[in-house]
Amino acid sequence: MSHQPCNQGRAEAVCRNEATALIPHNLEEWQSIRDSYLELMQSFLTGVICRDLPLIPSGSETFDLELRENGLDWPSQAFTMIGVKRLNNLRILTESIIEDKVPGDLIETGVWRGGACILMRAVLYAHNITDRTVWVADSFAGLPPANAEQYPEDAGSEFHKYEELAVSLEEVKENFRFFDLLDEQTKFLKGWFKDTLPTANIGKLALLRLDGDMYESTMDALNALYPKLSPNGYIIIDDYHVVPECKAAVSDYCRTRGIEPKIVEIDGVGVYWRKPLEGKKKSEHSVRFQVEEPSNESILHLYKSMVQLSQNAIIRLNQAIAERDCRVVEPNQHQVKNDRRVSELKQLLAERDRQIEVLNQTVAEQEDEVMRLNQALAEKNIYIAEILSSTSWRISYPVRFLKNILRRVKCI
Ligand SMILES: C[S@@+](CC[C@H](N)C(=O)[O-])C[C@H]1O[C@@H](n2cnc3c(N)ncnc32)[C@H](O)[C@@H]1O
Repeated sequence: MSHQPCNQGRAEAVCRNEATALIPHNLEEWQSIRDSYLELMQSFLTGVICRDLPLIPSGSETFDLELRENGLDWPSQAFTMIGVKRLNNLRILTESIIEDKVPGDLIETGVWRGGACILMRAVLYAHNITDRTVWVADSFAGLPPANAEQYPEDAGSEFHKYEELAVSLEEVKENFRFFDLLDEQTKFLKGWFKDTLPTANIGKLALLRLDGDMYESTMDALNALYPKLSPNGYIIIDDYHVVPECKAAVSDYCRTRGIEPKIVEIDGVGVYWRKPLEGKKKSEHSVRFQVEEPSNESILHLYKSMVQLSQNAIIRLNQAIAERDCRVVEPNQHQVKNDRRVSELKQLLAERDRQIEVLNQTVAEQEDEVMRLNQALAEKNIYIAEILSSTSWRISYPVRFLKNILRRVKCI
């Protein structure tokens, strides 16, 4: 027992030495490690890594890479529904604000299972950024019913009926924990946007991602947060081309404030633009920030995270395989039951056929018997007729004798 700490210490030292040997020798190597971590993370968050099945109401029953790439299905297990292209865009823009030193935090309004926010936090982590917060804003109970009086564009909205869109705060936190990214650099704003966003303790924002689907949700977020977006910061509108109410809110907001955004397309669904720099500030921002060499400690930390992520990936893959097996086994069980029933019915039919054969045989035998009896009767009739018509004394005498007896019996 007393040797254990020593052994443990030695084991840790060995690990440290092995890990130290892996430390990249130049910036390129370091960047490639960071890219691997973030790529693995993205694949995980979208569910591509384990070909995560879609939720049944979203259409296809099997994993469809094209749908998932364009964020057009709802994953059953994965952490975001925005798809591969919009998630990658989020990473690029997050890295861009880091590289360009655009001041401020990052926020998503409308997070569902939290996958997009987890990616933002992972990018900060991978770049060793410790002075920015990721804000995670949601009701954590789905979308609100339409407030058609104030926002007629939302009249008839059915989004609040989708139970699949209501993911609890605890579940979202658990998802951050799963990636070892739940810490004080992530802050949660629980409640309707109209209540939480105007009073949230948010200073400047460098990146604002809107994914609340409705006119009201988009407008509430724009009103409260766009003024806080730093010049050169990014605003992303997830549903711009698929939810007309969302596009209408963006157009109304920009028109009433004289904003003429230079909209950039992402994947045919989402768009973004960069808030223009004001006047002389442009020159300040023209110098791009030099990437700093990370410390050995942060590299080791990133290694540890990658190992953890890979282990989690294996667990998830196994879960996905088990789930798929279940889906295969279920129909198989039905098939087995059906096969058993069919063979029972076949047995019954064979039995019935056998009984019919026996009955047919009995009928045939009885018909033979009837035929034989008819023949015997016919023969007997002929014999009686012969007797009655005979002229021979030997036959006619007893017949006459019998007839007389019968007549007498009748007279009595
Ligand atoms: C389409 S989902 C977001 C998808 C998410 N961005 C992702 O990465 O998968 C919409 C989310 O917006 C939230 N939401 C919409 N309108 C809201 C509002 N007015 N207040 C609070 N939450 C809202 C819903 O609860 C839901 O989680």
